[in-house]
Amino acid sequence: MATLRSLGYNVIIGKTALPRLSAFVSRNSFSSVVILCDENTLQYCLPLLITSCPELAGADIIEIESGEASKSLEICDHIWQTLAENNTDRNALLINLGGGVVSDLGGFCASVYKRGIKFINVPTSLLSMADASVGGKTGIDHHNIKNLVGTFAQPEAVFVDPAFLQTLPQRHIHNGMAEICKMALIADKKFWSELNSGNKKLDPEKLVTRSLELKNGIVLKDPSDKALRKTLNFGHTIAHALEMQSLLSGGGLLHGEAVFSGMIVESHIAWQKKLLSKTEMTEIVSGLKKEISASARALSFDNLISFMRHDKKNQDRKMLFSLPDAIGSCLCDIPVTELQVQKAFDFYNTLGL
Ligand SMILES: NC(=O)c1ccc[n+]([C@@H]2O[C@H](COP(=O)([O-])OP(=O)(O)OC[C@H]3O[C@@H](n4cnc5c(N)ncnc54)[C@H](O)[C@@H]3O)[C@@H](O)[C@H]2O)c1
Repeated sequence: MATLRSLGYNVIIGKTALPRLSAFVSRNSFSSVVILCDENTLQYCLPLLITSCPELAGADIIEIESGEASKSLEICDHIWQTLAENNTDRNALLINLGGGVVSDLGGFCASVYKRGIKFINVPTSLLSMADASVGGKTGIDHHNIKNLVGTFAQPEAVFVDPAFLQTLPQRHIHNGMAEICKMALIADKKFWSELNSGNKKLDPEKLVTRSLELKNGIVLKDPSDKALRKTLNFGHTIAHALEMQSLLSGGGLLHGEAVFSGMIVESHIAWQKKLLSKTEMTEIVSGLKKEISASARALSFDNLISFMRHDKKNQDRKMLFSLPDAIGSCLCDIPVTELQVQKAFDFYNTLGL
């Protein structure tokens, strides 16, 4: 059990999270409470939420389809329309019950509906517990660009109960491990060694807590993404390109799956730029290559480079990456040429994944 203090709100992790959520709802007089979920969190997570917080039994429910494709303007339109039809006013509370898709989308919708209503995150996937639910980045994909439209908006609180993980499919546990590995690789060498030790019995609550401590430490130092916070994007320039390509072709690659591949490619770029030694690059690659998913075994430079040219970190048409300069340390705004990216893809494609 742990409580972290983030940007003006608490993140409560462990068995006490849902009782604390119940107390939070009871002591605030919201005009109404709306729960946003997808079909899976409606089926698997809503019952536990309502049992632990009986005051939520009468809440309005908005259900969206699960998956990245729901981070769209069309679904926002549906959410805003439903809120308006239900006469949801500015004193309402939105509860985002789900993975990173629900918290990114719900946080965004709440942050602009009637110029902003309060929201809280109740993450139910490993990825959202360990990363997406904290930090206040919200957003949707648009015009084939990942997270093109969004806001910085802080939740009132985040309630993390690892009990929700019991129904999370194994593929999504693996998916969440990508962001946990990333957090270790950019900020905590010892944590990386633990993750890389092959011990399959790591306690999910401990992993989530350490990952959130690391993320929160970074976010508190740089809330608006000016410098340090950009290091959280290690692996993501490549990952976002892969994700968008997959979304367009119906490939179904998950965010974390794309991040595993992205971290391998970007570690090679870091080695080309003499930030990582060959030994460190090899350690990262051999730790991560067993995690690569079947649909990302070969990468096409020609298909992916156009997505990367639109990355939000780019400036003056220069591609800027966040790259590790050691295991457990990361730099941001490193200019990378298309040739360096191509060489890293060539390396990746020879790994025989
Ligand atoms: N805002 C941020 O800081 C941040 C950080 C990292 C990732 N993200 C975003 O997060 C998204 C990915 O998040 P995700 O992997 O959680 O995806 P997701 O929200 O699609 O959830 C993954 C899947 O698991 C299901 N699910 C969730 N909890 C469940 C449970 N307890 N039992 C059974 N099924 C459950 C969902 O229905 C979905 O099918 C991406 O859009 C990514 O861009 C945001």
